[in-house]
Amino acid sequence: MEMGEELRAWLPAGGFGEELYVFDEVDSTNTTAASLAQDGAPEGTLVVADHQRRGRGRSGSRWETPAGTAIALSLVLRPSVEHPLRWTGLGALAVADGLQQEGLTPRIKWPNDVLLEGRKVAGVLAEADWDGDRLRHLVLGIGVNVRRGAVPDQGLDFAATCVEEHAGRVVSRVRLTTAIVQSLERRFAQLGSARFLQAWEDRLAYMGEPVRVEMGRVTWEGRLLGLGPKGEARLLLADGREVSCSGEAHSLRPVHSGP
Ligand code: BTN
Repeated sequence: MEMGEELRAWLPAGGFGEELYVFDEVDSTNTTAASLAQDGAPEGTLVVADHQRRGRGRSGSRWETPAGTAIALSLVLRPSVEHPLRWTGLGALAVADGLQQEGLTPRIKWPNDVLLEGRKVAGVLAEADWDGDRLRHLVLGIGVNVRRGAVPDQGLDFAATCVEEHAGRVVSRVRLTTAIVQSLERRFAQLGSARFLQAWEDRLAYMGEPVRVEMGRVTWEGRLLGLGPKGEARLLLADGREVSCSGEAHSLRPVHSGP
């Protein structure tokens, strides 16, 4: 069965992904989803592609999606505007849920990278379209490296991996995509809740460990205490002060104490 038909058969009717666009090849699923959203596509519209020619990562980086190796999906959402940082957490949490269903133990490198055994397996790119302070729509883009061919061999600023390396078996992209989309729908309904924040925090990588967060020209180093109410990372600095890091573009790294 072809991927689009298979996905349609797996995704429950009436939920996220009911409005489904599956492509062999696109420039970027986020770009396609944004133009569908501008044309009035409903919340839950899902765009999936086997191959992205010009996939985009955070901070203007490229995101490779070679055919047959990865999951590249984008979802149209229209959330309330109180929780922008939680939007990216939503993507990471949904991927983590999907990987857990595959028997794996994912961790989230704040705010939204998903790790398996310390290496990045998935990334999230949330792109909002604003009219002043009114949100027109949000496109939540998710890329998951499933097979070895998805892992770039150069140009990475953090070690990468793929799902199959950790599962030790073939993993169905349709099944994993379905699990992620179903989790996106379930978690989206809880977006503003304490429960959502707790689920995100429970999966955080480096909890209690020394980390470094780069925020433009400012860099904080401290122990990761957890998340604040907006989804900001809370650090305990060496001088006893506590700081909150709230920018989505910030990058968090472990600070290794040993050699
Ligand atoms: C990152 O970690 O830098 C974010 C990567 C996000 C990649 C996904 S793949 C599907 C969607 N379409 C894109 O062009 N980017 C996102």
